[in-house]
Amino acid sequence: MTAAVRHLVRWLEELGRISDEPGKLTRTFLSPAMRRANDRVAAWMREAGLEVREDAVGNVIGRLPGATAGGGTLVLGSHLDTVRDAGRFDGALGVLLAIVALQEVRRRRKAPLPFAVEVVGFSEEEGVRFASAYLGSKGFAGTLRATDLAVRDAAGVSVRQALEAWGGGKFVVPRPPAKESRLGYVEVHIEQGPVLEAEDLAVGVVAGIAGQTRARLTWTGKAGHAGTTPMALRRDALAGAAEFVGVVERLARRNGPLVATVGMIEARPGAPNVISGRTVMSLDVRHPRDAARRRALAALRGKADEIARRRGLELAWEVTQDNAAVACDVGLQRRLERAVRTVQGRSRTLVSGAGHDAVAMAAIAPVAMVFVRCREGLSHHPDEWAAPKDIGVALAVMEEFLLRLADES
Ligand code: HGY
Ligand code: MN
Ligand code: MN
Repeated sequence: MTAAVRHLVRWLEELGRISDEPGKLTRTFLSPAMRRANDRVAAWMREAGLEVREDAVGNVIGRLPGATAGGGTLVLGSHLDTVRDAGRFDGALGVLLAIVALQEVRRRRKAPLPFAVEVVGFSEEEGVRFASAYLGSKGFAGTLRATDLAVRDAAGVSVRQALEAWGGGKFVVPRPPAKESRLGYVEVHIEQGPVLEAEDLAVGVVAGIAGQTRARLTWTGKAGHAGTTPMALRRDALAGAAEFVGVVERLARRNGPLVATVGMIEARPGAPNVISGRTVMSLDVRHPRDAARRRALAALRGKADEIARRRGLELAWEVTQDNAAVACDVGLQRRLERAVRTVQGRSRTLVSGAGHDAVAMAAIAPVAMVFVRCREGLSHHPDEWAAPKDIGVALAVMEEFLLRLADES
């Protein structure tokens, strides 16, 4: 293991201990742990000789100026927020590896790079605190909309209110990078899937990212006494929601690349002897092809309406996120494949079922991603793990990509 990889592994362990919950890794948007994580990452960026700033959305940005002002800017990075009880590699690996890769490139190449590089630790990608994901990268890309800023968390705090509390003043959407400067965005991320492990490869290159729709469904019936209300007279919100969970799973199982998930369900009033009068659930539907995802959503919506009608329930269906599938830039992919072949011998192209900040960054720049093998494809779980030797391959690929891009610019 090289000194650089040891360094990177140590940083990942240290960052993985900065959490809002003792004994597990949970770091959500604008939380106290996020403040500590941003400060830590900013210090590491300065240690690497980068000029550091934090934008109004809480993204921490380290900039290495290029040899000439007109050389454009390549953006690297990933997200620093996590899901609840997360692994320490999802997001953090892409940010910290980019910092170490720049340190290594500056050590190996005496002349400054002909283009600037910015490493971004995006403040929010997972959509855990607020139902709308990519708030960090949308803020960086200048695509945050009023509807995003109006989304409220479980305590009823809006994104705008949370940002004004974080920044201590009126929130203004940051201006996106100047059009002419946008060379591209490249993100290193754990695969969060089984392909690289099955083919015994350390890294692969991403061709595209599946489209994704998230919705919040609220089923409203009538609360009542569990002991005295006859079954035939019930309007049980939880029973209706539960029936729909089965429909979601059966439809996805029948449709190959489609994945559909109910990850959260909350029954109110939530007492064992009370029929639920109101149940809220999440729905996450993804597919590599947008038309197939839309067909699946229409079918699910129809079934949900039928369940609600039959059970005398009201159903509110609120779409909280809707991202089209993203194709990665072919030119950047080719460059990454060349670097992967140099380091690993052979390259493998994959499609990502997981969403990434590259989805939001695709609005303003060509994007590309490198995936790193993770044990059993496990992620969004404390046992998520990437081997130091695979991290070393990914680091070497990023260095090779940057050095060749510099030589050929
Ligand atoms: O949900 C996702 O696909 C990503 O991990 N945010
Ligand atoms: Mn994730
Ligand atoms: Mn991620």
